[in-house]
Amino acid sequence: MAANAPRKILVTSALPYANAPLHLGHMLEQIQTDIWVRFQKSRGHDCLYVCADDAHGTAIMLAAEKQGITPEAHIERIKADHERDSAGFLVDFSNYHSTHSEENRQWSEEIYRRLKANGHISTREITQAYDPEKNLFLADRFIKGTCPRCKTPDQYGDNCEACGATYTPAELIDPKSAISGATPVDKESTHFFFRLPAFEDMLRNWLADDSLQPQVANKLREWLDAGLQEWDISRDAPYFGFEIPDEPGKYFYVWLDAPIGYIASFQNYCARTGHEFDEYLRPGTETELYHFIGKDIINFHGLFWPAMLDSAGLRTPTGVFAHGFLTVNGTKMSKSRGTFINARTYLEHLDPEYLRYYYAAKLGSSVDDMDLNLEDFVQRVNSDVVGKVVNIASRCAGFLRKGFDNRLAADCSEADLVGEFIGAGDAIADLFEAREYNKAVREIVTLADRANQYIDQRKPWVLAKEAGKELEVHAVCSVGINLFRVLMTYLKPVLPAMAEKAETFLNTSLDWTALDAPLLGHQLADFQPLMTRVDPKQVEAMIEAGKEAAPAAPVPQAPAAEKGASKAKADAGKDAAPDTIQFDDFAKVDLRVARIVAADHVEGADKLLQLSLDLGDCGTRQVFAGIKSAYQPEQLVGRLTVVVANLAPRKMRFGVSEGMVLAAGPGGEEIFLLQPDEGAVPGMQVK
Ligand code: MSP
Ligand code: ZN
Repeated sequence: MAANAPRKILVTSALPYANAPLHLGHMLEQIQTDIWVRFQKSRGHDCLYVCADDAHGTAIMLAAEKQGITPEAHIERIKADHERDSAGFLVDFSNYHSTHSEENRQWSEEIYRRLKANGHISTREITQAYDPEKNLFLADRFIKGTCPRCKTPDQYGDNCEACGATYTPAELIDPKSAISGATPVDKESTHFFFRLPAFEDMLRNWLADDSLQPQVANKLREWLDAGLQEWDISRDAPYFGFEIPDEPGKYFYVWLDAPIGYIASFQNYCARTGHEFDEYLRPGTETELYHFIGKDIINFHGLFWPAMLDSAGLRTPTGVFAHGFLTVNGTKMSKSRGTFINARTYLEHLDPEYLRYYYAAKLGSSVDDMDLNLEDFVQRVNSDVVGKVVNIASRCAGFLRKGFDNRLAADCSEADLVGEFIGAGDAIADLFEAREYNKAVREIVTLADRANQYIDQRKPWVLAKEAGKELEVHAVCSVGINLFRVLMTYLKPVLPAMAEKAETFLNTSLDWTALDAPLLGHQLADFQPLMTRVDPKQVEAMIEAGKEAAPAAPVPQAPAAEKGASKAKADAGKDAAPDTIQFDDFAKVDLRVARIVAADHVEGADKLLQLSLDLGDCGTRQVFAGIKSAYQPEQLVGRLTVVVANLAPRKMRFGVSEGMVLAAGPGGEEIFLLQPDEGAVPGMQVK
């Protein structure tokens, strides 16, 4: 039957930049993708998952130069690190390639030639800032100077972080190259443009096509309504990338060849394995193509990429799935708080499957940001996976081994219950398919509760002590194991390593395609522990390690994000600027002078002091501050400090904290509470 024929699915994650290690934000994307791919495979589909390093661009060229190595050596090193870290999180790529590859060069040239032949490439002169010492053109974020409006020095690019003014880099007072310090000069050069406006109709149809989440399609429609502009796809030498055919000294902009890297990686896979290739590129093909991406790169995948594919006579994606950004403990990942957690740092302290489970338990199909709350993380993994799912098997396994040689009962005493668990599979599969992992996990955990209730009611540990109840013990524990088998089948895409151990124990495969067949009269292996509890100390150790890894000097800040679809995200720009906020964001923070009227130790807390603050007209606040390692309470009483007065109250273990005092320093004894100059009065606003 056609409906049951295996689907041919090609899936990608965005290609990580080869200029930094992977962090838990990247892992959110790769784990989201990997779960979906594993789910499809478990359902019997031919599903391939390709990715690559995004190896081109100025940032990568400069990073290599700084280390005194060639860009090739640099990207090779980073790629090895990326692959190792992804594998550490059990992300199972069919192929991991590089955009700096022969396949990608050929495809980039080929697609460019087709675009050009179709009249979709134009050229014109543009004037740009140029570093006369380094002899290279400067993207906005490589220029800094004094804000023409508020005169704050050291502002990057085209907007001021202090006052929010926007301007052209040319308007900066005393502009300097951020690379050499030289004063930039204006220089003309010819650039190549992709004629995006020619694709307005095509893109409107594509947006109407259900290939994108509704929220994303709406956003992109706004850009279309505002008018598309031609997209600058070239950069001048020196540049690490591919030279444009017949245009010496001109290179493809990194974002031109990056998505083509998906095709290149897939082609590399096909060449290696003999898998069919052409059919996946043909317009009108039955094969499916999905891109998993973050919300920051929607314009590239939702506008430029489908338009390029269309012009080149290639198929467009079946779906683009955008996810939100990862926050940790409610805020943007921060190096100083130790919450900018590299994949490697995590793996040195914790089991990858904890994080896979937690992400799955929280990820839906929307573009909303997702928070990793570390307390919730410990609690959920321990309670759901260890306390509920694993518990089912461990409660039954001992009786089966002791009394029944690890052999399950020949028939099922609770066919209805087991049938109900299996019957839930269709709905759970629909949820995985729709990337509603959080809902799928909720269903699975609810079933685990039911399974435990069943065991609680039948009490095999009581039956085992009663004479003549052996058959009943056998029946109950066999049912328990069968329920466990079903749940592990559902969880296998999320927890592949634990599922593998469960497969060894159950002596069977946990593929979804085998779901309907209960284990009757079946021989088990000895039960082995499937997962240990998360130790909160390990989480703390990871955070501490993250703080140590934080660089001393702040990373250069990039200018504001994209203002429209016509303006490409600076290559690697956002990596340089993980922490930029807009003036409006800053203005939301109500900073006030406060007097510390009382300071006390907190029973049972190693790091906290409880502070009572007087904010003058703004009332009083109780704040728990992690400054105990640096201050005795008596040192603090009476002094002034600065407090975030409009922070939402936060319930902590010891009470409610109603704000946050500001301090500098890395922690430990080096914490320096901010203190206004003499004359400041409690309640004054700090601006
Ligand atoms: N190289 C480009 C993608 C090219 S795709 C043809 C790029 N690289 S990246 O390394 O900056 O990001 C890779 C992916 O990770 C992107 O989808 C990005 O959205 C995602 N994430 C980066 N930081 C993230 C979070 N903090 N949270 C969730 N995803 C994040 O963009
Ligand atoms: Zn300013």
